[in-house]
Amino acid sequence: MLTGDLVRLRPVEPEDAEAFHRWFNDEEVMRWLYAYYHVSLASLRKTFADRPDNSYERVTFCIETLDERKHIGLVRLRDANPVNARAEVDIYIGEKEYWGGGYGTDALRRVCRYGFDTLRLHSIELGVVEANARAIRCYEKVGFQVDARLRQSFFRDGEWHDALLMCVLADELT
Ligand SMILES: CC(C)(COP(=O)(O)OP(=O)(O)OC[C@H]1O[C@@H](n2cnc3c(N)ncnc32)[C@H](O)[C@@H]1OP(=O)(O)O)[C@@H](O)C(=O)NCCC(=O)NCCS
Repeated sequence: MLTGDLVRLRPVEPEDAEAFHRWFNDEEVMRWLYAYYHVSLASLRKTFADRPDNSYERVTFCIETLDERKHIGLVRLRDANPVNARAEVDIYIGEKEYWGGGYGTDALRRVCRYGFDTLRLHSIELGVVEANARAIRCYEKVGFQVDARLRQSFFRDGEWHDALLMCVLADELT
């Protein structure tokens, strides 16, 4: 378990499938995520049952509130490259009433600290649609900076959007 100021990060369990099923089929939660298809509970249950153990290449955590132990989202480090000591991070809070409460910032900061101090990563990157202002603000608070613009790389509801490649180096995490 990893503990932050507001959240606790714990491994994913098979019984978490129901919560993810609700979130993956919520268009508001998925609006700016690179996920296109609705997914069945049966398929998610299978994915979760077959999920490989956490490892250097891929570490996935459920985000729980520290006070109520409520499961509100997911954060993961993936595609870690040992030569470049670089990985990608994904995060979402599926329980919408928790948006804007500082939980995403705390979870992201904690998982990046784990990546730098325990996995000995040097840099962590993420992709975000430019229109997702709340997410970008969250990432900036943790120390992420924009390294590149991916022009018209995201299509949603009939419109093209630019995405940003953001990155934080080990000594930049705030
Ligand atoms: C993006 C996400 C992880 C951020 O987590 P969070 O807990 O909501 O974010 P936090 O409360 O820690 O920080 C959000 C910041 O954005 C600000 N913010 C909120 N709405 C905003 C908006 N429309 N424009 C600009 N800033 C906004 C908040 O005020 C806060 O900044 P502050 O602390 O300086 O006041 C979460 O909102 C989420 O999962 N959203 C849906 C899925 C998603 O978009 N995931 C990211 C895909 S790249």
